[in-house]
Amino acid sequence: MTLVAPSILSANFAHLARDVKQVQDAGADWLHIDVMDGHFVPNLTIGPPVVADLRKVTGLFLDVHLMIARPENLIPAFHLAGADLITVHAEACTHLHRTVRMIKELGVKAGVAVNPATPLSLLEFVLPEIDLALVMSVNPGFGGQEFITMAVEKIRRLRLMVSQQAPQVQIQVDGGINAQTGRVCVEAGADILVAGSYIFKSPDVAQAVRTLKHIKKPGA
Ligand code: DX5
Ligand code: ZN
Repeated sequence: MTLVAPSILSANFAHLARDVKQVQDAGADWLHIDVMDGHFVPNLTIGPPVVADLRKVTGLFLDVHLMIARPENLIPAFHLAGADLITVHAEACTHLHRTVRMIKELGVKAGVAVNPATPLSLLEFVLPEIDLALVMSVNPGFGGQEFITMAVEKIRRLRLMVSQQAPQVQIQVDGGINAQTGRVCVEAGADILVAGSYIFKSPDVAQAVRTLKHIKKPGA
């Protein structure tokens, strides 16, 4: 089974608790929370108070994806709000190693994301320090964009790097994930699928979660 992390970006923000319960009841593994600052990406979403309120209504693992400049300024606030994993963008961190260490010292899992045009070499020397590597399969900022096929080859190469250098690292993919693109990514080596519009815009949210969960990993 594949781990599924519904992205609340495509949920109804006026009914967040209801939508979260729906994916939780359907067997979602993590809850993916997209944080945008209007600088690193051209869109604005939510901050630590929303994460703190979500923490009160769900026991799901809170996967916080920071698409923000200078993430080190807000990492402590997201930790206090109840994040289980904090992912920062390699492109947003001048001192990526320091930022990763900062997350780990708070006792939170650490992830590093790379945009579609960013080479995997940026991850090479932090791989031993992190828990998750996130391959963006859209340019971050908006839900509902088309999957960028190049991400598949990137996942394949990252799987090789991870198995050789840092087998503890889980590979996540985010953007344009549906039943077809999700399958291709899992076959290439992804462990965790993030999906927003495929799940929350589906007429049957529970079935959409189950469809992604039932994608089989190679050799499983
Ligand atoms: C994109 C976000 C994604 C987004 C995915 O900037 O990081 O998590 O919500 O949405 P879909 O699945 O609709 O592409
Ligand atoms: Zn995301």
